[in-house]
Amino acid sequence: MVLHTVKEADLKGKRVLIRVDFNCPVKDGVVTDPTRIKAALPTIEYILSEGASLVVMCHFGRPKGEKKMEYSLLPVKNEFEKLLGRKVTLAPDVIGSEVDSLVSALKPGDVLMLENVRFYKEEEKNDPEFAKKLASYGDVYVNDAFGTAHRAHASTEGVAHYLPSYAGFLIEKEVKYMAPLLENPEHPFVAIIGGSKVSSKITVLESLVKTCDKIVIGGGMAYTFLKVQGHEVGKSLLEEDYLETAASFLAKAKEKNVEVILPVDHVCAKEFSETAEAITVSTVDIPSDLMGMDIGPKTVELITKALKDAKNVVWNGPMGVFEFSQFANGTEKVAFALAESDAVSVVGGGDSVAAINKFGLADKISHVSTGGGASLEFLEGKTLPGIKALEK
Ligand code: 3PG
Repeated sequence: MVLHTVKEADLKGKRVLIRVDFNCPVKDGVVTDPTRIKAALPTIEYILSEGASLVVMCHFGRPKGEKKMEYSLLPVKNEFEKLLGRKVTLAPDVIGSEVDSLVSALKPGDVLMLENVRFYKEEEKNDPEFAKKLASYGDVYVNDAFGTAHRAHASTEGVAHYLPSYAGFLIEKEVKYMAPLLENPEHPFVAIIGGSKVSSKITVLESLVKTCDKIVIGGGMAYTFLKVQGHEVGKSLLEEDYLETAASFLAKAKEKNVEVILPVDHVCAKEFSETAEAITVSTVDIPSDLMGMDIGPKTVELITKALKDAKNVVWNGPMGVFEFSQFANGTEKVAFALAESDAVSVVGGGDSVAAINKFGLADKISHVSTGGGASLEFLEGKTLPGIKALEK
């Protein structure tokens, strides 16, 4: 996958229309985690240093095509302005005469942020007229919104039909770390896939089994795989409808000589509750009155061992119910093992990224993806429309 990148563009004196994903968590009008803003700053600073002005497009939440001011980009704009260290003007709308005037008045170095692009239903419909209108605000289009690259929306895909289009440094970096995982990873390549449901992770498993040497399956979905192998899973999460899918995945992995590592012990509870007592079960089988909530210490050891000689690792999804502290140990230990490994490590997906950040390990991971849904779809081998539009 070769992309047109922002370094190829002649930006001097140009108006650059950029799409970013600053869809950050906000509490009481303040951004609580600015990771996504920080991640796009290198591109923004580069564009400004080349003598361009900027029109910034972004979404926030899901206002479903209505101008609901609780979805205004104001909190995001305030944090962006602080981190960028220069004035950012928030337009009162996305398009319209007032916005037209603000755009026309831009001088090199100025930064104008349009309001939430999802205030218009045309955004998510990828309406060509809306895309054309947005495109009229720039001479050049740069997309650095990796987190929204799986959406074929007007600001992520549509505008690319009307302007010379380039990838920003963040998209370039995401692709640089993720694309080899599906094409030519360094071996041994280990994938650690967790999360609660087989149904939401089976496509990624089927994609990674083509290039992996070992696949660790943890989290709630592991119990469906254990059941297939004939183990007792007690009251653990079980997707009866996916037993066959899980069985055929295990058969495929065997055929391809890919080692699948499933939990060999567990931390269980009598009920799914924040205050439930953690009970360690040191066998693969789980007693009938218990449910698996986390992987046990022997499983942690197995995973740590698998990571020892790995050259490439990808992690997506927690190993247990890590939001309850008594069931966070497996996820925490895997995060530390990954941080200590010499492998090129890539972490994607909301919960595993949250775990990495919670334990302060982000700078020990080669690449922490800014995409949730986008990084999952990338690993599933799907074409991301926002990235496809930037391909050479
Ligand atoms: C995200 O937070 O994953 C992205 O910003 C995409 O948001 P969406 O799922 O509402 O399209």
